[in-house]
Amino acid sequence: MTAPRAFVLGHPIAHSRSPMLHGYWLERYGIAGSYEPVDVAPADLGAFFGSFRETGWTGGNVTVPHKLAVIGHLDRIDAAAAKLGAVNTIWREDGQLIGGNTDWLGFIGNLDELAPGWDREAGRAVVLGAGGAARAAAYALGERGLSVALCNRTASTAEELAAHFGGGMTGHPMDAVAGLLAEADLLVNTTSLGMLGKPPLDVDLSSLKPGATVYDVVYVPLETGLLKAARARGHRTVDGLGMLLHQAVDGFRHWFGQTPEVTRELRSLLIDDIRAKTPGA
Ligand code: ATR
Repeated sequence: MTAPRAFVLGHPIAHSRSPMLHGYWLERYGIAGSYEPVDVAPADLGAFFGSFRETGWTGGNVTVPHKLAVIGHLDRIDAAAAKLGAVNTIWREDGQLIGGNTDWLGFIGNLDELAPGWDREAGRAVVLGAGGAARAAAYALGERGLSVALCNRTASTAEELAAHFGGGMTGHPMDAVAGLLAEADLLVNTTSLGMLGKPPLDVDLSSLKPGATVYDVVYVPLETGLLKAARARGHRTVDGLGMLLHQAVDGFRHWFGQTPEVTRELRSLLIDDIRAKTPGA
């Protein structure tokens, strides 16, 4: 049997940390497989899938800008990918090419790891943003039975997303946040605000429910201004790095037949890499 080969497909792809992540697990479990970055321009996507089988790919990850475009090249997508309108993981099953979305598993797996018990009696979440990361967060929290209020600079986008997900999810403008925080058990930032080089996120936490957990999907820097302010107020905080680690678990399992563990060592490896490559992180 030939060694399984997996890819991460994007354009550009050179800065992806996924090869480091999967490379760590391949070595840790002594698996003779590979995980290779593949740069494919949008115009060449059809050719990539046209030669998929003869190239011998086992499957792989999909990132920007192909998460939606790959769907037309697959035999089937899973329920999460259908609801999120994006595929980030591809694998083979019974001769078919399947697309799934594990970003929501990354979101919730990280939260469960870094704030165990966060959902004990948790009923309400406030999610800031309405882009791709907000979709993954909203889907995950809806699956866990929370009622989700989405707040976004462009309120109409949040309202449309809430209507798309249903289940009592609501959309609001950003100035509604202060009023929603008193009832919130979880506050999540999915906007790019607070990221290194971006403007800070300006949220007044004084009305946030005591005991609420605060989660920022941003991970450069690891502790954003939001998390720093939340920690100073005694809230439990969760950074976004683990989303990247946890979303990778299912793909690795599909391609290499082993459920990998998200270890502290792996987290440290990525933190060191971010610090080495990002001055100021
Ligand atoms: P991702 O896929 O990573 O979630 P995205 O789809 O570009 O990224 O979404 C970015 C989110 O950050 C959006 O909710 C965006 O708000 P708009 O829908 O109004 O654009 C939000 N965002 C980005 N810059 C912002 C800013 N300066 N102030 C407020 N929200 C901002």
